[in-house]
Amino acid sequence: MKTFYKIVALFLILNMSHATYSQEINFLNSEKKIDSIISLLTLKEKVDMVHAQSKFSSPGVDRLGIPELWMSDGPHGVRAEINWDSWSYSKWTNDSITAFPALTCLAATFNPDLSADYGFSIGEEARYRKKDVLLGPGINIYRTPLNGRNFEYMGEDPYLASKMVVPYIQGVQKNGVAACVKHYILNNQELWRDKINVEVSDRALYEIYLPAFKAAVKEGKAWSIMGAYNQFRGQYCSHNELLLNKILKEDWQFDGVVITDWGATHNTKQAALYGLDIEMGTGTNGLTTSKENAYDYYYLANPFLKLLKNGEIEESVLNDKVRRILRLMFRTTMSSNRPLGRMNNQEHLDVARKVGTEGIVLLKNKDSFFPVNPNKKITIAVIGENATRPMTVGGGSSELKAKQEISPLQGIKERYKNANIIHAMGYASGPSAYGRVLPSKFDANTLKQEALEAAKKADIVLFVGGLNKSHHQDCEGGDRQSLELPFGQNELLEQLAKVNPNIGVVLVSGNAVAMPWLDHVKGVMQAWYLGSETGHAIADILSGDENPSGKLPFTFPKKLNDNAAHYFGEISYPGNGINQVYKDDILVGYRWHDTKHIKPLFAFGYGLSYTTFKISEVKTDKKKYSKTDKISVSCNIENTGDISGAEVVQVYIGKPKSEVKRALKELKGFYKVELSKNEIKNITITIDASKLAYYNEAISDWTLEKGDYIVYVGNASDHIVEKVKIEIE
Ligand code: BGC
Repeated sequence: MKTFYKIVALFLILNMSHATYSQEINFLNSEKKIDSIISLLTLKEKVDMVHAQSKFSSPGVDRLGIPELWMSDGPHGVRAEINWDSWSYSKWTNDSITAFPALTCLAATFNPDLSADYGFSIGEEARYRKKDVLLGPGINIYRTPLNGRNFEYMGEDPYLASKMVVPYIQGVQKNGVAACVKHYILNNQELWRDKINVEVSDRALYEIYLPAFKAAVKEGKAWSIMGAYNQFRGQYCSHNELLLNKILKEDWQFDGVVITDWGATHNTKQAALYGLDIEMGTGTNGLTTSKENAYDYYYLANPFLKLLKNGEIEESVLNDKVRRILRLMFRTTMSSNRPLGRMNNQEHLDVARKVGTEGIVLLKNKDSFFPVNPNKKITIAVIGENATRPMTVGGGSSELKAKQEISPLQGIKERYKNANIIHAMGYASGPSAYGRVLPSKFDANTLKQEALEAAKKADIVLFVGGLNKSHHQDCEGGDRQSLELPFGQNELLEQLAKVNPNIGVVLVSGNAVAMPWLDHVKGVMQAWYLGSETGHAIADILSGDENPSGKLPFTFPKKLNDNAAHYFGEISYPGNGINQVYKDDILVGYRWHDTKHIKPLFAFGYGLSYTTFKISEVKTDKKKYSKTDKISVSCNIENTGDISGAEVVQVYIGKPKSEVKRALKELKGFYKVELSKNEIKNITITIDASKLAYYNEAISDWTLEKGDYIVYVGNASDHIVEKVKIEIE
């Protein structure tokens, strides 16, 4: 009888009008409601909820009106519909979306407010597409420039990634769509990602690799998280006692859902006991060939049910997973005040364009080569395959079906109406298919000759090249094979520069590349993958309509061995196929370059502007601080050039004499300031003194050392304007 009333109550709750429903929500504590729902579910219904029913959904409970959960990639836009049980696209005609710039570009804006706009807009699109869980953002640390998936992440610095990821998550979730932060954790390369066992010290784990995830959970309040493919200390990350049970769920009190990466589950008992909540993507024999539902063979399906029935695993273990899933549902599908979402509107395109223009990084600008005046009647040779190649296509699971993608060439043609634009491909990359790159159908020499002819005729040359989204480039499932530009671009660039020294490079990539031709070109800008508004954003910067203000979220090394992961040899990267040891430890990215005095090609935090800035009067509010204090660092920042622009003031702190190994300095604060010409502002950046602690392996906790610290203030990690000494008492 009691159960009957509960069913009636649940029926009423799930089917009430919005107003009464939200009153009801307010009245009943949702956790109690979750308990009452759990008590209504059969063991089988509960087990069904913890694994997939299709490539991108997990079941609800139909007889009770509990909805299914629908998930979708990815970090840069909502992916096109995929078939129920195959990886092919479903060919719907209503699933084209706005493609936003890749997360490397978002990180390069150093603008958390823009990250909030990005998250909110993509969340709206996900909601309109009826998605409940958005599989992103990705925040794995940029450890090596060879990682095929760096373009999906937020760079090499844990502080920057933390600051940028939190507003993204909050923005997405305002739409009643869960962000699924990925890939937890140490999936910092694609080679052998499905099996490699990563060994890393506790210090590097806590200081470098965990912080952005911790911020995502504790500050961003992410409702779900994706377990990575790889292993950590001998256990797969998707069911890892230390990472999931201890750190995530116990220490950080994560109350959301752990979802596997697709096919990252390997064992029923471990999946059940070591923190996994929903199993997705495990290979099945397909619905067409199996007699029953192939998803019943997942590790958390029939094999789990069997262990529960024979008492080897307690039902409370299952109930905890179901409780988390229902909680996610109350935040998404069963939330009473869920907005409706919007898609492909001008506001979203505007956000995409703004992130693009703010994220483009001006790396070199000899003789003020950029901006190129759009009013002049000149001939511009636009050379390079990336001038026309769609970059929302390819790259793996982040691939998008963009409603529009303005190519660089199109954007340049639109903006440079007075100029004579000629285009030559210059090189061809060849199609990518089934994880292989096939030879190009074009003759390389003919393409090169055409480009040289075009360059000779032109007043200026814009070379739009870089990497692309094919296998072994910026693409999931494989790593790059060298730091060099592929497809003969280095040689082509040298030859172009000889026939026309008025040459600038627009680098389209999500990774650092070597630039042996750097001295022979006048300008270089790092233009990432910019999505729907690519050509517009590039033309905004090229023409000077917008002043560049992006800063590199990772170091460009001069050569591969200058990068710490590579310096330590094969066992450090890529490992021996079974194990990998992160010998670079805490010295990732600029931390390594700074500490070992290895000059990078372009440093973390670096980026030029069309105006100039002056930082002065750097001060701290006090000289001595205790561990509960806040350190206020202030300075004047002045626009000393002729046009308005934005600068990113960066505060790094280091401890010269330390009881442990330390990086020379680490980013602890930044602030992006907009200044009109001649304007001067005084800004303050506040840092918790406790954030200067190091992770002490001996006590498994943070230790704040007493003594002197140096505060470094500048506009790049290798451009420090002033230093101030402070003391922690
Ligand atoms: C990727 C994830 C992605 C998932 C679903 C996996 O291969 O690693 O990032 O969300 O596929 O497409």
